[in-house]
Amino acid sequence: MFEISERLKKIPPYLFVEIDRKKKEMILKGEDVIDFGVGDPDMPTPENIIEAMKKAVENPQFHRYPFGKGTKEFRKAISSFYKKNYDVDIDYENEICVLIGSKEGIAHFPLCFINPGDISLVPEPGYPVYNIGTLIAGGETYFLPLKEENNFLPDLGKIPNEIVRKAKILYLNYPNNPTGTFAPYEFLKEVVQFCIKNKIILVYDAAYSEIYFEKRPINIFSIEGAKKVTIEFNSLSKTYNMTGWRVGWACGNSSLISALAKIKENIDSGTFEAIQFAGIEALTGPQTSVIKIREIYKKRRDIFAEGLKELGIDFNLPLGTFYFWIKINGSSVKFVDFLLENGKIVATPGIGFGPSGEGFVRFSLTINEEKIIEAIKRIKRIWVR
Ligand SMILES: Cc1ncc(COP(=O)(O)O)c(C=O)c1O
Repeated sequence: MFEISERLKKIPPYLFVEIDRKKKEMILKGEDVIDFGVGDPDMPTPENIIEAMKKAVENPQFHRYPFGKGTKEFRKAISSFYKKNYDVDIDYENEICVLIGSKEGIAHFPLCFINPGDISLVPEPGYPVYNIGTLIAGGETYFLPLKEENNFLPDLGKIPNEIVRKAKILYLNYPNNPTGTFAPYEFLKEVVQFCIKNKIILVYDAAYSEIYFEKRPINIFSIEGAKKVTIEFNSLSKTYNMTGWRVGWACGNSSLISALAKIKENIDSGTFEAIQFAGIEALTGPQTSVIKIREIYKKRRDIFAEGLKELGIDFNLPLGTFYFWIKINGSSVKFVDFLLENGKIVATPGIGFGPSGEGFVRFSLTINEEKIIEAIKRIKRIWVR
């Protein structure tokens, strides 16, 4: 009876309906499905954070509407996180806005700067919210392919001049979902210079910044001039197994932060202050849990990598995130369907992250070691290359 808006019509359909349906059907039948699908940590939130939350939730001071950009104490904790881990200065007064998870901020941000006809430069394969946020704001997306031969970095030199002229936002995400790659210093320097020269906002998605195995990734604000053009998004979700809590932040250029805060003031009323209180414990309390989380993902990565090696399957060893991006032959949707039908294994077809994702499949190592070992056995039985 009611026609949906042109805006909503532009949003692409969910690609994996059929795979999802089959997975649920198998689970209902009691089949032992191994799920490498969703990128959602399987481990609980560390105890010290839960204890802080228990205390906070009883405090009536936190039961009222939260403040606009977040509590001063939580913003100070975020600022200290950058200083401690990256030796980067972030002013808690003007350069931080607390979010209801980084997805919320990433989705709302284009509303602040995109007018109809403006372009966002969006890497693909990539997190779908960059494109969708742009479309909701009435903008257009120009996709930047991330190719294996270019180490899954976009080639800025290949963007046509007329596109660069109309571009308002460039999105980047490293450590990268879905490819598990990092951005080197020289590339980040080139990106910052490109954005300054062309007056383009750099949206840097650092959701996986603390999930690294060999070396800590470079923080974008350690690149000279970055703060002139950059807003970074991060959250407690992946670092502290807190995806369900919905708490994150944006930080960086103060005019970008105040624009985002203005949009948010008019849409939501902030992040529950008890959660922000627990967030202070996460960022400033003991970090032993984060070290443990990294060790667990690294062990899983190494077990999976060893198994794949034995099977003669090619892959790039992820340096961070909990994803494996594996090249396969042919259609990624058909391949994933084959894995599910024959091995009762769920993975995500690369095409779902963009056309350059075709020919790849993403495995999320958010399941325990036993299941990973069992999955390797099953793959051995069915994977004929
Ligand atoms: C690349 C990337 N960015 C951002 C997010 C959003 O995370 P959150 O909203 O939980 O902070 C995700 C979640 O999977 C992600 O993969």
